[in-house]
Amino acid sequence: MFNDFQLMDDRPVSIQVKEYVKRLIIKGALQANQKLPSTRELSTLLGISRNSIISAYEGLEDDGFAYTVHGRGSYVAAASTGAAASSAWRLDWGARMNERAQMAVELDLMKRGIRAEKGTISFTSIAPDEKLFDLDNVKRAFMDRMSVEGNVLLNYGYAKGYKPLIDYLLRYMDHKGVDLKGKDLLITNGFTEGFDIVLSALSKKNGSVICENPTHNTAIKNLKLHGFEITGIAMERDGINLQELEQALSEKAFDCAYFVPSYHNPTGIVMSPEKRQRLMQLMMRYQVPVIEDGFNEELRYSGSHVSPLMATAGQGNSVIYLGSFSKVLFPGLRVGWVLADRELIDYLESIKRARSIHTSTLDQSILYQYLYNGNLEKYLKKARTEYKRKYEWTKQCCEAHIPFEQLSGDGGLHLFVAFEEGFDTRALLEACSRQGVIFTPGDIFFTKDGQGRNTMRIGFSRVADEEIGRGIRIIGEAAKQLRG
Ligand SMILES: Cc1ncc(COP(=O)(O)O)c(C=O)c1O
Repeated sequence: MFNDFQLMDDRPVSIQVKEYVKRLIIKGALQANQKLPSTRELSTLLGISRNSIISAYEGLEDDGFAYTVHGRGSYVAAASTGAAASSAWRLDWGARMNERAQMAVELDLMKRGIRAEKGTISFTSIAPDEKLFDLDNVKRAFMDRMSVEGNVLLNYGYAKGYKPLIDYLLRYMDHKGVDLKGKDLLITNGFTEGFDIVLSALSKKNGSVICENPTHNTAIKNLKLHGFEITGIAMERDGINLQELEQALSEKAFDCAYFVPSYHNPTGIVMSPEKRQRLMQLMMRYQVPVIEDGFNEELRYSGSHVSPLMATAGQGNSVIYLGSFSKVLFPGLRVGWVLADRELIDYLESIKRARSIHTSTLDQSILYQYLYNGNLEKYLKKARTEYKRKYEWTKQCCEAHIPFEQLSGDGGLHLFVAFEEGFDTRALLEACSRQGVIFTPGDIFFTKDGQGRNTMRIGFSRVADEEIGRGIRIIGEAAKQLRG
């Protein structure tokens, strides 16, 4: 015993010794009431100063793993040894999982997607490029806020969110043209938690939701996990096909609609202002509330500003707006928001409290201080310039090399390619991955199995210019070969 101790890292030596002995006790290698080696002996055995051993033994005693008998030494405490009786008790957790858990695994693309070998050119991500992050300003924001109210930030906060950030975001939404009268805001862990909270609050009277087709894969996944049936409506060059939408609305009742009107994922399409008006009129006529996903609104490279659907709705309370800075700023700070009717937010606040108490106040306060210090505008300017350049370059490469039938993407961090019906982008992906290039096959964004097999999404935000050029050329050549 004691011959497998190794100093692992630069943590205090006494803590490493304490944890080592503690592990021996928990595993049962040291039995209750067994005498521990004297501090002198262990110091020689481990080649560590006696002071470190003394301090480790004191720590073990503090944690209840050892006791001292005056004049005789240290002993293992009785209750601290491993419970051998239940060590053979093994459960089959797979058999105990409910349908939701089984489904979550089935729908979890991260567990089944193509693995990118080192050196692969990957167009699968639409995360921001971390090389653009202005770390110094984030560090400054952290230090600034900690020095103002560090103690408060480290304690429990409020389910609704960190008040200064709520106020900032209300002003932010006001500037987007949203009428805030009768509305309130809840901070969530990104768009994804906000969506999940809204879906768990809504009654499933009809059990069905209507949305664009294709749409955000995480949204499809969550709708399915909540047991909603999904009706997808085709996209046109300027957003959702309104005739098809009206037809569906007239045939069936829906509990809500989910729309991504700006820089839609995956098509990158921006819904025209006229269409937004007509869409809202339709939803009013059929009394279907709207969940608006505004995740990408800031990544506009050309064309004029388009207001969110919530602004179109004026003082009406039928739109639930879900906001996120995951593409615009830092997805690692899991901060998003729900802006909606005050009464609705009151319900959502209680759900939020029940499930996670609140979003990390530290994350919220760093984001708040970063925004308050005026960094968003500066950062956006830099990020937009860089993404616009990459966007134009990627578009140019696609136009030069890929034999597509349709290419869409008005901004954001990706482009969407559609080939003629019958073309199979899964086969294309296989051919490309053999040559070290991967992308996201479009079928995962469609609401019905088997749809969109002729489409693909190309995320360019984290790919270097030279690789964009090389990767798109490889995709184009492989596509031409597949078509024969
Ligand atoms: C359509 C859409 N909405 C929202 C998000 C952001 O989600 P979150 O805020 O949970 O990171 C994404 C990220 O890819 C997205 O594609």
